[in-house]
Amino acid sequence: MAYKKHISSLLLQLILLAFVFVSANGSYLKLGFYQKTCPNVEAIVAKVTADHISVAPSLAAPLLRMHFHDCFIRGCDGSVLLDSTKTNAAEKVGPPNLSLRGYQVIDAAKSALEKECPGVVSCADILSLVARDAVYQIKGPWWPVPLGRRDGRVSIALESLSLPAPFGNIAQLKAQFASKGLSVKDLVVLSGGHTIGTSQCSTIVIRLYNFTGKGDTDPTLDPKYVPFLKKKCKPTDTTTLLEMDPGSFRTFDEDYYTIVMKRRGLFQSDAALLDDKETSAYVKFQAQSHGSTFFKDFEESMVKMGQIEVLTGSAGEIRKHCALVN
Ligand code: HEM
Ligand SMILES: *[C@@H]1O[C@H](CO)[C@@H](O)[C@H](O)[C@H]1NC(C)=O
Ligand SMILES: *[C@@H]1O[C@H](CO)[C@@H](O)[C@H](O)[C@H]1NC(C)=O
Repeated sequence: MAYKKHISSLLLQLILLAFVFVSANGSYLKLGFYQKTCPNVEAIVAKVTADHISVAPSLAAPLLRMHFHDCFIRGCDGSVLLDSTKTNAAEKVGPPNLSLRGYQVIDAAKSALEKECPGVVSCADILSLVARDAVYQIKGPWWPVPLGRRDGRVSIALESLSLPAPFGNIAQLKAQFASKGLSVKDLVVLSGGHTIGTSQCSTIVIRLYNFTGKGDTDPTLDPKYVPFLKKKCKPTDTTTLLEMDPGSFRTFDEDYYTIVMKRRGLFQSDAALLDDKETSAYVKFQAQSHGSTFFKDFEESMVKMGQIEVLTGSAGEIRKHCALVN
């Protein structure tokens, strides 16, 4: 009897300990992390980002996407920023990198910060701030970014193949987000990032010309939209870019959900959001309510995404140059 009691109280303690551990993990990052060591960090990053986005608004999209790629591979540790070396092919050269760009914005922010407070601010934090400030610059929401991420030392090209794929179905997408601690709601909310930016034709020609190998078109695409897409994208086109949200691809708004409702999302992964009760209800709600809660939801999901598998404390390092390990 006493023995049993002992076991169960031990179990309870273990469960409590696990709970404390798990919740502590998410709270390692904090607002104002650099308050003493680099108090102007946010103002500096915001200014550098604004200077770039005001002359090149189309850079906001790849910078947001860069943060997503960083967080989904090895956590938000700046691994997406590392260059390949003689002996290692980095994430940057992995196939899904297509059109990732804007590295110069990160580098400019880093060098401004190295002047102000050398060796203090991680590249992973800079990327997280730049993504936020870039979205805000193009009329999107603003959210507080908890800081304190450290930079990883590893970046492997092949690992970028584990990113969610544009031909992913709803079950695969849900599983991939769940494996990063993100919910079904986070999936449908963060997919709203496709309200900005462009895609290469090559990503969608299969949907247009040879969907099941019989020279057919993906039946989930709006048939009225197909001729327009085919005109833009010939089967072997590798250079033309398609606007994700035609007409306002440089403005962060809620149009994505209207587009998905109309079955004009460019990727199967966009169309897939109509194949699940929860995600399709969300798409419908945002489309009908003109995105009444989208910005608030996006803020929350971005904060969650920004905490995926972060390195904190004395793990990793603070890179001197974002493309190179120390
Ligand atoms: C749900 C799974 C997702 C898939 C399968 C996916 C896939 C893709 C693909 C294939 C492209 C086009 C790349 C190209 O052809 O150049 C793209 C672009 C983009 N994605 Fe996603 N994505 C996903 C989630 C996200 C998330 C979570 C975000 C950010 C919150 C995001 C933001 C973007 C942006 C902004 C672009 C445009 C980039 C540019 O203009 O250069 N995506 N995505
Ligand atoms: C992206 O990956 C391809 C190989 O898949 C590579 O040839 C290209 O240089 C990479 N792009 C960048 C910006 O590194
Ligand atoms: C379409 O796909 C099938 C099966 O993969 C292939 O045999 C055929 O050559 C493709 N057609 C074109 C035009 O690419």
